[in-house]
Amino acid sequence: MNIHVYPNDLEASAKAAGLIIEQVRNKPDSLFSLAAGSTPLKTFSLLVEAVRQGKADFDQCRFASLDEWVGLDGSVQGSCRQTMNDHFFRLVGILDKNIRFFDGKSEDLTRECADMDSFIEGNGRIDMLLLGIGLNGHLGFNEPGVNPDLYSHVTELDPITKQVSVKYFDPPQAVASGITLGLRHVMEARTVILLASGSHKAEIVRSAFHDQGSPTERIPASLLREHPNFHLCLDQSAAEQLI
Ligand code: F6R
Repeated sequence: MNIHVYPNDLEASAKAAGLIIEQVRNKPDSLFSLAAGSTPLKTFSLLVEAVRQGKADFDQCRFASLDEWVGLDGSVQGSCRQTMNDHFFRLVGILDKNIRFFDGKSEDLTRECADMDSFIEGNGRIDMLLLGIGLNGHLGFNEPGVNPDLYSHVTELDPITKQVSVKYFDPPQAVASGITLGLRHVMEARTVILLASGSHKAEIVRSAFHDQGSPTERIPASLLREHPNFHLCLDQSAAEQLI
């Protein structure tokens, strides 16, 4: 586990963006999966800036979605797809043919999961995964108690996830379940970055990553301690209970 702590959110985001840029330079046709949510938005801005300055080029990359709210698709403000479109995909001109995103509105979610697993398998495996962490320790929608052997699956959302979800939607959306890559995808990804910022994340960061803790699916993020190439990028506030 490589822990990087920075004085502020912008510098932690810059570290994550730097790792992504290095990845795409080393392997221009990388397969990425990038979390939506609030945390990575500064990283996305830095990536957009890098593309505009000619310092990064994602044209040959492919993108697998990490997760989506069941019942929502990319037309809904606050959906993961809409967030990715608005803050990254559309701004750097990623073509739809290079994006495989979960359709949370699909009538056949089992098929959505199977298609995603085939897409990832067909591309080797995920080269780089950028994650956030939920206040309950979730990764994507791998909620506390998840079976770590799963690939893509549909899950009931944890009460904390439902509670936090209100911040994404205006008008509000009633979300009860999610569709997500599984922890098998996470653990098989070549490189994983988890970005966390703000003092509201300090307690869960400590629970997941402090020295004496052991990995447990009750705190899905803690399983990343066993990932061979894992970068934990924190600002000082998120790291305050760790050190
Ligand atoms: C979003 C996702 C979630 C978030 C997590 C943190 O695609 O996968 O696991 O990364 O809930 O959310 P924020 O960044 O909004 O605190």
